[in-house]
Amino acid sequence: MSFRTIPSSPADPLRVVIVGAGGMGRAWLATVTESPEVMLAGIADLDVPLARSAADSAGLPDLPVGADAVALAQQTGAQALINVTVPEAHHPVTTAALFAGLPVLGEKPAAENVSRALSLAAAAEVTGELFMVSQSRRWNPQLAALREMIARLGPIGTVSTTFFRSEHFGGFRELMAYPLLIDMAIHAFDSARFLLQAEPVTAYCQSYNPPWSWYAGDANATVVFEMAGGTRYIYNGSWCSPGATTSWNGSWRVSGEKGTALWDGDHEPVLDGEVDAAEATGTPYSGIAGALQVFVRALRTGEPPSGEVHENVMSLAMVEAAVTSAASGRLEHLDDVLEQAHAQALREETRADVRDALAGWPSVREALTGTVPAETR
Ligand SMILES: NC(=O)c1ccc[n+]([C@@H]2O[C@H](COP(=O)([O-])OP(=O)(O)OC[C@H]3O[C@@H](n4cnc5c(N)ncnc54)[C@H](O)[C@@H]3O)[C@@H](O)[C@H]2O)c1
Repeated sequence: MSFRTIPSSPADPLRVVIVGAGGMGRAWLATVTESPEVMLAGIADLDVPLARSAADSAGLPDLPVGADAVALAQQTGAQALINVTVPEAHHPVTTAALFAGLPVLGEKPAAENVSRALSLAAAAEVTGELFMVSQSRRWNPQLAALREMIARLGPIGTVSTTFFRSEHFGGFRELMAYPLLIDMAIHAFDSARFLLQAEPVTAYCQSYNPPWSWYAGDANATVVFEMAGGTRYIYNGSWCSPGATTSWNGSWRVSGEKGTALWDGDHEPVLDGEVDAAEATGTPYSGIAGALQVFVRALRTGEPPSGEVHENVMSLAMVEAAVTSAASGRLEHLDDVLEQAHAQALREETRADVRDALAGWPSVREALTGTVPAETR
């Protein structure tokens, strides 16, 4: 998708407003204030005293704050928004920004469900503004190294992630129906798409809650995805598994024709196989600072970044397909999940211009990924 470019440089940094002064908003505040490529113009939160205290604790007592992010951006002459609100606010805040002529870098997930995320992809098309989702783990240099490594393994049969942790969060996560799938697994699903450079086709999921679980909803899940080209991606995880916990990134195994690559999630990946040596090129981007660099560079060059909303929606669609399969007990086709979300988006859309854009898509998969859905099942 093409979008409006904005020139910037360290001598003329991109002016941004952060919206959302919660835990992750403060992490973004630190990242933005350290970056030479952007300048913080203000911080917004519905809870204005919280925004003020975030600015104060960052040593910025004079930073403009407000409840309405777009109004604050307009008052301060900001050129872009970083949306770190709760998932339910991603759609209204990002839509308002795009239609006010502000490109958006948003925290994952793109929106609270695929239907709302499709509406945002269409809003980006209508306005011609960039909406990029910061999926922070995609910007992990070890994951980038693993991707380079597995390109030498020939065809890939299986990729698996095990994620076993024992976390007492309190609060909303312990009350959600599918805390692991909805709040956490998107990182691994997105990383699997990034590694394989392939999109999901089907999902089968069993989600369950072990007897000792301190979560109201299912703390455990096992999901099998068929990816385009036939590779199976298997995610096996738990939030309530004491002992021998894995990395927050999970533990990965990639099995190919010529060997196997392993990544423990915290150290450099290792390769076991009969493959030619190759020089690793690496990546200059890391974590949310990397996502910010990529966003600024995309606005300068007009090159669609990794995480541009159309592409990113497929990771959220994997979550929705897994949850749908857990509830139905059946294998679910991603194209069905996408088409149902599209129908819901058309029913619920309140903006005529966004509805027209959604209605003009040849198929959801084609609009998101440029590939046509498989005709036969
Ligand atoms: N990438 C990661 O590793 C990672 C880690 C944690 C959270 N996150 C994501 O970051 C986002 C924020 O998470 P958090 O833990 O900081 O949540 P939080 O609840 O601590 O903070 C969210 C803030 O958004 C504010 N808010 C809600 N609606 C708003 C609106 N319409 N306008 C302005 N402010 C509004 C709330 O008042 C709150 O202060 C979520 O999307 C979450 O999934 C990502």
